[in-house]
Amino acid sequence: MSNYLLDKKIIISGGLGLIGTKFVEVCASCGAYVTIADINIDMSNSIVDNLKEKSGNHNIFFQYCDITDPDTINEFLSTYTKKHHTVDALVNNAYPRNRNYGRKFEDVTYEDFCQNLSMHLGGYFYMSKAVALMMMKQRCGNIVNMASIYGFSAPRFDIYRGTNMTMPIEYAAIKGGIISLTKYLASYLGEYNIRVNAISPGGVETNQNESFIKKYSSRVLLGNRMAQTEDISGALIFLLGDHSKYITGHNIIIDGGWSL
Ligand SMILES: NC(=O)c1ccc[n+]([C@@H]2O[C@H](COP(=O)([O-])OP(=O)(O)OC[C@H]3O[C@@H](n4cnc5c(N)ncnc54)[C@H](O)[C@@H]3O)[C@@H](O)[C@H]2O)c1
Repeated sequence: MSNYLLDKKIIISGGLGLIGTKFVEVCASCGAYVTIADINIDMSNSIVDNLKEKSGNHNIFFQYCDITDPDTINEFLSTYTKKHHTVDALVNNAYPRNRNYGRKFEDVTYEDFCQNLSMHLGGYFYMSKAVALMMMKQRCGNIVNMASIYGFSAPRFDIYRGTNMTMPIEYAAIKGGIISLTKYLASYLGEYNIRVNAISPGGVETNQNESFIKKYSSRVLLGNRMAQTEDISGALIFLLGDHSKYITGHNIIIDGGWSL
């Protein structure tokens, strides 16, 4: 355990997911108080126990929060404030999607398009707004938004050929929107000493189709491989720590050179 983020109070949405669990683990390993805002109540106890053990830090807390529902965000923050009083950082990392998400372009309806934008981009907006209002009163804060390489570069659809996967059009709109939202908020909130940055990862390897992993990896310059979650977490620690205190409005791309 290091002291790099010692006693910083950090809220991480989607902290029970693939990238989120790594984020929680590394922030806690650096001495932070981490509050996970997530909807996955069923898995929360076992994941939190595991993260406490891995990080050697017991200051990891789960609080239910659905970022698509402003009422639960307000309830979340009211409970959070009673316990922790202040907030140093918010990491917008949740990945809400509706049940039709992931369809190819021809099959995406107008309703699904709007709903997924509203859930993900709208959720990041509302979570940022609610927490920024606290930060504006404190006159300090730090927000990190999870974007993606698909927020600024076009998908290459040949890597999905022969699989049941695609890169949904909503995702391009959502992640492009998150990069713009990051710059807007960095500009708007700078005078309150609130920094706002984004991280744009390339694809993280999980249990994707083998031919997809091969095709994707062949385009990656560093190591011809997909990202691992630990490839992403270093940038988060940097952005949350004081060594980046003069950096705002940035988008750190972590893709092994894929998008060059
Ligand atoms: N996995 C990748 O390859 C990749 C690449 C680039 C960017 N990203 C981005 O990183 C972030 C995390 O992705 P991931 O792959 O870890 O996703 P994931 O699906 O593994 O985890 C997402 C987490 O968000 C939670 N969640 C879903 N809806 C929610 C809601 N309404 N309110 C609160 N929490 C909710 C889930 O319960 C889960 O714990 C996302 O913004 C994603 O777009 C992921």
